[in-house]
Amino acid sequence: MAIPSTQKQWTVTGTGKELETLQYGDGEVPKVGDSDVLVKLHAASLNYRDLIIPRGKYPFPTKFPVVAASDGAGEVVDVGSKVTKWKKGDRVVTLFNQGHQYGPMSIEAAGTGVGGVVDGTLRQYGVFGENGIVRAPKNLSYVEAATLSCAALTSWNALYGLKALRPGDTVLVQGTGGVSLFALQFAKAAGATVIATTSSKEKEEIVRKLGAHHILNYKEDENWGETARKLTGGAGVDFIIEVGGSGTLQQSLKAIKYEGIISIIGFLGGVKAQASLIDCLTNICTARGVYVGSRQQMEDMVAAIEVNDIHPVVDSKIFTLEQAKEAYDYQWAQGHVGKVGIEIKIARAEN
Ligand SMILES: NC(=O)c1ccc[n+]([C@@H]2O[C@H](COP(=O)([O-])OP(=O)(O)OC[C@H]3O[C@@H](n4cnc5c(N)ncnc54)[C@H](OP(=O)(O)O)[C@@H]3O)[C@@H](O)[C@H]2O)c1
Repeated sequence: MAIPSTQKQWTVTGTGKELETLQYGDGEVPKVGDSDVLVKLHAASLNYRDLIIPRGKYPFPTKFPVVAASDGAGEVVDVGSKVTKWKKGDRVVTLFNQGHQYGPMSIEAAGTGVGGVVDGTLRQYGVFGENGIVRAPKNLSYVEAATLSCAALTSWNALYGLKALRPGDTVLVQGTGGVSLFALQFAKAAGATVIATTSSKEKEEIVRKLGAHHILNYKEDENWGETARKLTGGAGVDFIIEVGGSGTLQQSLKAIKYEGIISIIGFLGGVKAQASLIDCLTNICTARGVYVGSRQQMEDMVAAIEVNDIHPVVDSKIFTLEQAKEAYDYQWAQGHVGKVGIEIKIARAEN
């Protein structure tokens, strides 16, 4: 297959009020260095993080201009002379923080986010270090595999990174976004009880189908943390996937079990939380900031996805590369369920 010299790509040129700095245009197809791999990207998916980078609200390192988005899947089409792990035709997924290989996060690794510091996946071809990609699960299509880099790995890290989830534990997931639905699926596969919250009657059916044991509407039941605790017989929940921030942390503290872990992952409801660290003492729990996960964790997650034949929840509306800005708006409006997928196909002779 001939590799073209130029490609179509979405670049974030800086920060602005909305998405005015997200621009579609031509870029060069990068060349592989000795230890690099060239991936023909077939699909990408969006994360809330991608929506707030151009808006200047992302709290982790960025550099501009940068090709947008962290999540992508595709096939290896060229390898550098020193690459031993990959060959042409291998199906792969991007690793979010290219420098986070195993063990704890480091300051250096936190500065290697794809689509933030390192050029991302909203393009046709990308070069990554040979340790910056992971084998795609055999049971997944490219669009499904392209949802794993950020949301899925973050959930995996929340459930296994500090203390491993065990059968019979209770996991509480908030809302029906990408992170939460992966956590629901991983928790089910591990034999845990799942309490899911949502603001929407229609979306209740989705979490029910995925096997949530209990569903709470956080708009109707403002004291859902207390309700969740009651559902456990009073002991509380072992793991909480905290994505709301200021809107949810107080309730999470009401729901958490002694020695339970609240993974502080997101701030969809805002950053000014009405809770303090002292609450970790009074509730005898751990609140742990999580920043995606390592390559080692991603490889474990891929194995679990294959063994349990887990299929990511991908919203029924799939966009093309040219339509990526519409995909950003669609996810911003929060009408989506699970992941918003983008197929990287454009009408060009070499595709
Ligand atoms: N720390 C990390 O490494 C990491 C990694 C990935 C994501 N994140 C963060 O995690 C959060 C979720 O990411 P995502 O990609 O899953 O987002 P997403 O797909 O855009 O999630 C949107 C859904 O979240 C729910 N939601 C919105 N506001 C909420 C609130 N106040 N309380 C509870 N649920 C609420 C809604 O579900 P319903 O419509 O069902 O109510 C909404 O549809 C974001 O803040 C993101 O930046 C962090």
